[in-house]
Amino acid sequence: MKPGDEVIVQSFTFCASSHPITYLGAKPVFVDSEKDSWNMDVDLMEEAIKDRIAKTGRKPKAIVPVALYGMPYDIDRIMEVANRYDIPVVEDAAEGFGSRWKGQVLGTFGDYGVLSFNGNKMVTTSGGGALICPDAEAWQKIMWLATQAREAYPYYQHEAIGFNYRMSNICAGIGRGQMTIVNDHIDHHKHVFELYKELLKEVPGIEVHGNPDERYDSNFWLNTITIDPSVRVKGQENAYKTIVQGAVGGAAGVVHATDSAHTDCEPNANVEAMRVYLDQKGIEARPLWKPMHKQPVYKDAPAYVNGVSEQLFKVGMCLPSGPCVSDDDVKYIVDCIKKAIE
Ligand SMILES: Cc1ncc(COP(=O)(O)O)c(C=O)c1O
Repeated sequence: MKPGDEVIVQSFTFCASSHPITYLGAKPVFVDSEKDSWNMDVDLMEEAIKDRIAKTGRKPKAIVPVALYGMPYDIDRIMEVANRYDIPVVEDAAEGFGSRWKGQVLGTFGDYGVLSFNGNKMVTTSGGGALICPDAEAWQKIMWLATQAREAYPYYQHEAIGFNYRMSNICAGIGRGQMTIVNDHIDHHKHVFELYKELLKEVPGIEVHGNPDERYDSNFWLNTITIDPSVRVKGQENAYKTIVQGAVGGAAGVVHATDSAHTDCEPNANVEAMRVYLDQKGIEARPLWKPMHKQPVYKDAPAYVNGVSEQLFKVGMCLPSGPCVSDDDVKYIVDCIKKAIE
């Protein structure tokens, strides 16, 4: 990858999918999502490839689909298009560890697959992740780059710019321990999904996002719902009246203060009111990821959009789903959701 190169990346994602492209001086080209999986719209992806070739005279260097909240992408169609144009695929399966497409785990279809072992993921090493490589030769090259690209001399000789991106052996040890409970965690997340689905099925205007069909087998890393704009939530007339004091997710206690409660693209008032209501009941719920093509920092990046991710961002919400969420917790959360509705 060189400065000026372009990489196609799903817009509906956390910034960690696109920022590494930017770190390398390359340009992300954002592609919107399809309605069912919420992941890369493959028709739009092909349109983006054709248009970038027409506009720049060069093919995008890679394609990065994202397993949003663990949901698989239609990797058959992605690979068909990618192979036709001979563009490598790097699967961002950071949230999709253990999710399967037609029975095969994500991260093993593309040229490379990325997993995250961050503290909030399916299993954790406290921080860090894994890169799934296609063969020993690729692995050699990756590990060489990850160890500051040291040449074989008795002294440090550098003929390429490398990185210091390895996991420490302490973290790797934690990860090996975590491997013994990974299947329990995945089963638990799926169980929590089934419970949310069952308990929310008769609540009008609330929809739990599930596998679109039997090819998809999400790990349900985060369970998500959508709230129809017609649903009236207690306190929604006061949504966005107060400015948030802390960054989302704690961000190590750092606050980057802002003087406005609004942006030009935000969740609907009833979704924000639901978040606030649940927060007051001791439940942490969050909006969906704000699409990257709507982020000010990427305002100049090319984007191929169909309105799906923006629309979902306005109506969607993530619910607690982790290994400590018990059946009683899910019942309490659903009870609070029902009570929040007027
Ligand atoms: C979609 C996605 N990609 C990449 C990452 C990056 O993972 P990490 O936090 O391990 O850097 C995350 C999560 O943090 C993510 O949600």
